[in-house]
Amino acid sequence: MTPNGGTNGPAGVENVLRTEQLSLSFGPVAALKSVNLHLERGEVLGLVGNNGAGKSTLVKILTGLYRPDGGRIYLDGEEVRFRSVQDARQHGIETVFQDLALVDELSVYHNLFLNREYTRGGWFRFLRNRTMRAAASRFLDDIGIDIPSVDAPVAKLSGGQRQAIAVARAVRQENIKILLLDEPLAAMGAKETSLIIGLINSLSKKANISIIVIDHNYTHLFEICDRINVIQHGQVTVNKSLSEISLEELIEFMVQSFRRDVAAGDAK
Ligand SMILES: Nc1ncnc2c1ncn2[C@@H]1O[C@H](COP(=O)(O)OP(=O)(O)OP(=O)(O)O)[C@@H](O)[C@H]1O
Ligand SMILES: [Mg+2]
Repeated sequence: MTPNGGTNGPAGVENVLRTEQLSLSFGPVAALKSVNLHLERGEVLGLVGNNGAGKSTLVKILTGLYRPDGGRIYLDGEEVRFRSVQDARQHGIETVFQDLALVDELSVYHNLFLNREYTRGGWFRFLRNRTMRAAASRFLDDIGIDIPSVDAPVAKLSGGQRQAIAVARAVRQENIKILLLDEPLAAMGAKETSLIIGLINSLSKKANISIIVIDHNYTHLFEICDRINVIQHGQVTVNKSLSEISLEELIEFMVQSFRRDVAAGDAK
């Protein structure tokens, strides 16, 4: 470990992200007690845990939405404290939440450029739209997203296509290093699910983006992740690469942990 606590991965591999004893309470509810986790470059880490375990709270801290009560966050070995979502974004962290933040009435390409439009004055407007449109098509092609037309308003897209546009918008950030996905596959059909799974795989393997993905479907997680962390009652209790745990073992572990919560009156 370096003096600033930057490495803890195998053979001194520098972690792109590491947290140390992160904690956050909401009044009497200790949502996170002491979260220690790490993320390597280009790695996909799956976060699983029963309802109310603290997964979304952790993501909201990592994206600068909540400030932790205690603990530390390191990016590439340097301690950081995010003041806002914008601040986390400037450090290369992008998040896709379930409500997606797309504008239904605007076209796919306008959504991709939302708040980051190519700015050129007055009579260049037509040209500017043409440039954005072409850049959007090229970008979606590059990352393997197949949308019938970038001119369609996003309201006309399927749930999976919308999710894909939201992810594409996040990864358009030039300095993106870490992508956080909170239940990106929830309520999706088979075709949409495979679209997003393919996108996550190509972002990590081709673009070398590090990804944390939360999902309650362990079968899907086993198609995407390199490693799984289980969060229970605000703490990471299991940290296993896919070579160390089988899908059946994970399901059995989670069923048992849910039963214990029910017996203790803790299940939500
Ligand atoms: N803004 C908030 N105010 C008060 N309590 C909160 C807030 N956000 C989360 N909590 C509480 O913190 C705990 C962790 O919630 P969190 O949303 O992180 O769980 P989760 O693991 O994402 O669950 P799920 O799988 O249901 O999405 C829960 O007890 C929840 O009720
Ligand atoms: Mg959640």
